[in-house]
Amino acid sequence: PDDVGLLAMEVYFPSICVNQTELEKFDGAGSGKYTIGLGQTNMGFCTDREDVNSLALTAVSLLLEKNNVSQQDIGRLEVGTETIIDKSKSVKSVLMKLFPDNTSVEGIDTTNACFGGTQALFNAISWVESSSWDGRFALVVAADIAVYASGNARPTGGAGAVAMLIGPNAPIVFERGLRAVHMEHVYDFYKPNLSSEYPVVDGKLSIQCYLNALDTCYKRYGEKAANGSGYTVEDGDFYCFHSPFVKLVQKSFSRLVLQDYLTNPELKDKYPELEQVRGKTLQETLGDKDVEKLSMKAANDLYNVKTLPSVLLGTEVGNMYTASLYGGLASLLSVKKPSEVSGKRALLFSYGSGLASALYSVRFSLNHSPDSPLSRLMSTLSDIPHRLSARKVVPPAEFEAIMKLREETHHKCSYSPVGDVQNLFPGTYYLTNVDEKFRRTYERV
Ligand code: ACO
Repeated sequence: PDDVGLLAMEVYFPSICVNQTELEKFDGAGSGKYTIGLGQTNMGFCTDREDVNSLALTAVSLLLEKNNVSQQDIGRLEVGTETIIDKSKSVKSVLMKLFPDNTSVEGIDTTNACFGGTQALFNAISWVESSSWDGRFALVVAADIAVYASGNARPTGGAGAVAMLIGPNAPIVFERGLRAVHMEHVYDFYKPNLSSEYPVVDGKLSIQCYLNALDTCYKRYGEKAANGSGYTVEDGDFYCFHSPFVKLVQKSFSRLVLQDYLTNPELKDKYPELEQVRGKTLQETLGDKDVEKLSMKAANDLYNVKTLPSVLLGTEVGNMYTASLYGGLASLLSVKKPSEVSGKRALLFSYGSGLASALYSVRFSLNHSPDSPLSRLMSTLSDIPHRLSARKVVPPAEFEAIMKLREETHHKCSYSPVGDVQNLFPGTYYLTNVDEKFRRTYERV
């Protein structure tokens, strides 16, 4: 099949959030640390009423309903997540509740920190392109609840789910052959304590691994994408990144500009700010704060055009782990008009600690007429800014209390959640009970 890509997309994020300015004060962190230092505005979080199953149930049902896709039209369903609530039973198996009249659905869960959603997506694309494809759509859902122990990583949490419908003749096409990966073994962020929702994290190391993976993927992508002359950031129109916190996204984009500069002598006049970096190797500059500042300055105008439109959900909800990168793409599509993306290329960088990473690209269809598939896809995402502002902002003390409750109860059986269901958005699934055999039941608003 031709033009395999994204046919529809749905984003779900919690209806409650905590404000990062208030959280800075509450935590006694320096004023500006979470907002300016990390680039965050609000952080979405879940009460004990939501788990990874409910998030995925919500995103998948809304996607099917809003796009009038029937359960029989789905031939493969892939889940990417690192929010493990069962060591054997997949989230995918729970989602089969939504397919009572169609048990012929391939696919299970894929896990590697924030990368699971991307590998799930790659699996779905491969299925559509394979001899096993039966002509139906593939559906991918990336869902996570990102929570950290109290301390400096806590403000980089978040939660959410993105569901994506994959098939041929799509308005957003995955560019064939333009996929670069970098994978290696490292202990930067992992979850060895199976009774805790929290990761063990070496924050500084994870940032260094992320940026090094980006450098490597960008080099490899450039080798594949260059036609004649070398690839530079100008050859991509938009750049979306996995977003642990938005400041890292800005630094990431500036690394691409820095690599362009260090590897293309003809760019020396384009970025005069980088004059004093000339002659260094990219590896030498990793972790160098002065180079980081200069690169961010040099890249700033391009960042505002090519990446800023994709950080809305990252800024407002925080890290959604596997869903984060796809929240970036959805943000871009929610703030742009079809005519502004039509015919253009977006690069997507996915990073999952441990580590697995990839940089690949999509192309938006030329057809952007009001009834085009591209316009329809984008119109279903256009309510994101409105939904973000309709959330309830909860005081930090209440946020802390809810985190404590999750800590104490998330792994319990014979448990009835107590969280408020009044504030949940329409269409949200929520947990009603975990029985004595850990069997979970859900209802829907
Ligand atoms: N006003 C403005 N900026 C400030 C202030 C202030 N009052 N105080 C600090 N800052 C700046 C710092 O200068 C720094 O910015 P810089 O790095 O651009 O110089 C930034 O705020 C953060 O401050 P740090 O002291 O570096 O923060 P800390 O070490 O306490 O924690 C960290 C940050 C490591 C990101 C932590 O939140 C963490 O571990 N998060 C989870 C790990 C993570 O997200 N890793 C990324 C990739 S892996 C993944 O996706 C999970």
